[in-house]
Amino acid sequence: MSKIKDFTTRFGFHGVPFTCEIRNEDRYVNDIYQTPIDHLYRTVDKRMCGALIAPAGTGKTSVLRALIDRLPEARYHVHYVKVTSLSKRDMCREIATVIGMESAGTYPALVKRLQEHLAASLDMDGIRPVLILDEAHDIRPDVLAMMRILTNFDMDNRLVVSIVLTGQPPLAKLLKHPGLEAVTHRLALCATLRTLSRPETTQYVEHRCRVAGAASCPFDTGAMQALYEIGRGNLRATDQLSLKSLETAHDRDCDTVDSNHVAEARRLLWPV
Ligand SMILES: Nc1ncnc2c1ncn2[C@@H]1O[C@H](COP(=O)(O)OP(=O)(O)O)[C@@H](O)[C@H]1O
Ligand SMILES: [Mg+2]
Repeated sequence: MSKIKDFTTRFGFHGVPFTCEIRNEDRYVNDIYQTPIDHLYRTVDKRMCGALIAPAGTGKTSVLRALIDRLPEARYHVHYVKVTSLSKRDMCREIATVIGMESAGTYPALVKRLQEHLAASLDMDGIRPVLILDEAHDIRPDVLAMMRILTNFDMDNRLVVSIVLTGQPPLAKLLKHPGLEAVTHRLALCATLRTLSRPETTQYVEHRCRVAGAASCPFDTGAMQALYEIGRGNLRATDQLSLKSLETAHDRDCDTVDSNHVAEARRLLWPV
């Protein structure tokens, strides 16, 4: 029999599995993610600010996507900015662009226009602006301090925009920076995420195979153990290792992925 050409066909997937873009409805549901989603939702609903701090690859961006999905468009204008180490002016320009505002002008002029724009959206139609800053561990302290001006400038001291900051653990240190007390005091929540346990890793891999169309999970018990031993329940590492293991098994013309395929995948991905 001739070898099956495409690994997706061999395992019955309708597309490439374990990719980073996953539809909200295809997410693996677990309290690890549902609890921070609920808490962030309530924080935004109370017009407060929140943070989500966890290591790379643990599911932060996916939690943000689920949060955005949960905020009804009729009540919230959600603006998502992936932070790179921008200056105050560039950050204002970036925010201006995502909220559909003219981004030219000096820094003071931009801040003023941003304030007016955000307040107007609240006054005119009762729609609350929400600013989501992903990868916020890269944010500069002076830029973070500027967020204070954006969140609260109204006469009656109400929060005009809710900010959700998400980033890797250095963000916690950044929030303790002297001079940032005004920002940290506005944080009503600091949520975190943990890595998956061994049984959760198995559930996760089975789930991702199922949503990619496989009728049965191609990883055997040994492969599942190896995925956990190597990936340690980190979602991104587990995704990369699972995908490479499937390709490796396919290259060996095998219909089941075993621990040798996972070990080979590790060598290919992360040579020591
Ligand atoms: N609940 C989930 N269900 C399925 N896949 C997920 C889930 N959360 C994250 N992932 C996957 O795990 C990988 C890492 O998630 P991501 O949100 O990008 O992590 P982080 O932002 O913390 O680096 C992504 O490829 C994403 O598709
Ligand atoms: Mg991310």
